[in-house]
Amino acid sequence: MRAMHIAAPGGPEALQPTDWPVPEPGAGQILIRIAWAGVNRPDALQRAGAYDPPPGASPLPGLEAAGHVAALGPGVTGWELGDPVCALLPGGGYAEYAVTSAAHALPVPQGMALREAACLPETLFTVWSNVVTRGGLRAGERFLVHGGSSGIGTTAIQLARALGARVFATAGSPAKCAACAELGATAINYREEDFVEVLRAEDGADLILDMVGGSYIPRNLRALADDGRLVMIAFLEGRTAEVNFAQIMARRLTVTGSTLRPQSELAKARIAADLRTQVWPLIEAGRLSPVMDSEFPLDRAAEAHARMESSGHIGKIVLKVA
Ligand SMILES: NC(=O)c1ccc[n+]([C@@H]2O[C@H](COP(=O)([O-])OP(=O)(O)OC[C@H]3O[C@@H](n4cnc5c(N)ncnc54)[C@H](OP(=O)(O)O)[C@@H]3O)[C@@H](O)[C@H]2O)c1
Repeated sequence: MRAMHIAAPGGPEALQPTDWPVPEPGAGQILIRIAWAGVNRPDALQRAGAYDPPPGASPLPGLEAAGHVAALGPGVTGWELGDPVCALLPGGGYAEYAVTSAAHALPVPQGMALREAACLPETLFTVWSNVVTRGGLRAGERFLVHGGSSGIGTTAIQLARALGARVFATAGSPAKCAACAELGATAINYREEDFVEVLRAEDGADLILDMVGGSYIPRNLRALADDGRLVMIAFLEGRTAEVNFAQIMARRLTVTGSTLRPQSELAKARIAADLRTQVWPLIEAGRLSPVMDSEFPLDRAAEAHARMESSGHIGKIVLKVA
């Protein structure tokens, strides 16, 4: 099959076309003939050599895709050959075929094109597990997401709004702020405004989803309301910070975080089951859909990565495979 592999860790040009064997589905797995593959920031980290695939995963990049079921491994039930499917992948999405656990695959929501469906899994698994399961977001709460125009951010805004939260989002340009506002967030251009002041004027955030880290860590704590929760999902600025832990005690704050890829098969299957019952109805009711930035053919994945790393994009970047 055609695939894009990481020839050697480096910049976007490290992504090179290659011929690769079609993977075989093992017990409990399905083989997907991929039509579209989503591009995510962790793919760029993997390409740069900063995010190794977990043991047993394909070394090819690509954490999500949509297409059709092409083969069933032993013991798989609930899927038929030819079913349209979108799925979280352990890796290997930048290719014509990929295998994944049948329990990490979801039906393409009614009325949605495969191009959009390919952009659902990685962001929704991440946002659901961190904002709802871990972060405990409830209706009526104030929720702040950093990187509001990112794939993760645009999904988090929509999901939090659909759950009845009041949403604030930071972004780095007027166009990105406009995109966040259109999705229902109060947008904060962090180059012009201090998000801590904006949130403190509103009595603080009950929950913050942060992918920036570094200097944002102590500022996030200041922006939280009493009993507020901070959930870390990435460290684009930095992994370390000096923090006054006394405020965590005095104001009963919770600091937590998670990363999706190394979690167990069972943990991901539980997230998929939650998405199917709690989020797929919202998608099918038109309350949540991926914000699409751009598409590139599979063999131009390097350009897709360059666009993502330029941070010029708003929403999701996708690769056309078939
Ligand atoms: N923990 C997990 O399981 C998990 C899973 C998936 C993704 N992630 C992480 O979540 C983040 C978003 O992923 P994505 O795929 O949605 O990526 P993305 O679309 O590229 O989003 C990154 C966003 O971060 C903002 N940003 C703020 N400070 C930045 C900085 N110092 N450097 C670069 N960007 C900065 C950028 O917007 P501005 O221009 O407005 O700054 C950009 O929109 C990534 O860091 C990714 O690694 C974590």
